[in-house]
Amino acid sequence: MLITWWYLYFSARSIVLQSFKMASVVQKLIAPLFTGPPEPPANKVTVVGVGQVGMACAVSILLRELADELALVDVAEDRLKGEAMDLQHGSLFLKTKVVADKDYSVTANSRIVVVTAGVRQQEGESRLNLVQRNVNIFKHIIPQIVKYSPRCIIVVVSNPVDVLTYVTWKLSGLPKHRVIGSGTNLDSARFRFLVADKLGIHTSSLHGWILGEHGDSSVPVWSGTNVAGVNLQMLNPNIGTDSDEENWKETHKMVVQSAYEVIKLKGYTNWAIGLSVADLTESLMRNMNRIHPVSTMVKGMYGITDEVYLSLPCVLNSGGVASVINMTLKDDEVAQLRASGSTLWDIQKDLKDI
Ligand SMILES: NC(=O)c1ccc[n+]([C@@H]2O[C@H](COP(=O)([O-])OP(=O)(O)OC[C@H]3O[C@@H](n4cnc5c(N)ncnc54)[C@H](O)[C@@H]3O)[C@@H](O)[C@H]2O)c1
Repeated sequence: MLITWWYLYFSARSIVLQSFKMASVVQKLIAPLFTGPPEPPANKVTVVGVGQVGMACAVSILLRELADELALVDVAEDRLKGEAMDLQHGSLFLKTKVVADKDYSVTANSRIVVVTAGVRQQEGESRLNLVQRNVNIFKHIIPQIVKYSPRCIIVVVSNPVDVLTYVTWKLSGLPKHRVIGSGTNLDSARFRFLVADKLGIHTSSLHGWILGEHGDSSVPVWSGTNVAGVNLQMLNPNIGTDSDEENWKETHKMVVQSAYEVIKLKGYTNWAIGLSVADLTESLMRNMNRIHPVSTMVKGMYGITDEVYLSLPCVLNSGGVASVINMTLKDDEVAQLRASGSTLWDIQKDLKDI
């Protein structure tokens, strides 16, 4: 009888030990209380395109701790994998989970999707041809974004940004307030830096706006440029004009030239656009109602009759563009804005398949 009890005891003990040995480290270490599917991330951001601009946006968003999950997508699989691994190796220093895949299911439940994918202009290529090539790329990207994140806000960065924002609006079927172009947010930042630098003050203390097209036909609003509420045009009525002896107009020329200049020196621009996109992302994610010059659908504003996206001061919150500020522009500024609109419409009207 005693032998039987001993036999049973040792058999049971060896079964327990055996099964404990077979259990994985995870099973031994962690006792789950709940085994259902995990909750989707509440504050997810996706960046499409992991080139120079995409990665600068991604890193700026990570360092500002704006998302609990960041998804990266690109068609260049090796680069995508390499960038994702490199960031994941820094996860000890981040508060955001980084995921990546060429399949858009990885982007599911994003609140904001930043689109930086695109092709660059080839030598001798017309602008319209470049736009059409990017339209063809967007025809693949945008429906996938909306399929997996139907309630997202799309921030378009790829150039020509105003036209591609319009294209995104058309392709996505999203309401206009949820499709935003980074627009002249960067141009305005460059302008504020250049004017502030000339005055010897910090960039944030110079208030100034560049509106209209991101690019050659952008409009500097000299009538609103001020420091501590002191309007610079009141101090120099000729500011920004050809008859200005101080030649402040040069600062706007430098803004227009700056992308070309940086590209000539280092091959691309990325840091400033990355920082500026993270700033927009913050206003959207944190429901801040901050005002930024970004590209929005302006039909019906300032006498513009075409469906074009142009930059105006927009109130950004968690719903997207909540409203547009009616700036008290001078007649020549309104005329320049309309000219910006016509320039863009001339390109858009010939686009195929959107
Ligand atoms: N709006 C602005 O102020 C601003 C400023 C700087 C650059 N940009 C624009 O941003 C864009 C990106 O510039 P970059 O220097 O990062 O270029 P890049 O060539 O370094 O990167 C582009 C990336 O897009 C990817 N891509 C191409 N087709 C794709 C597709 N179908 N799906 C997913 N990914 C795709 C490429 O593989 C590449 O990784 C350009 O259009 C550039 O002109 C805009």
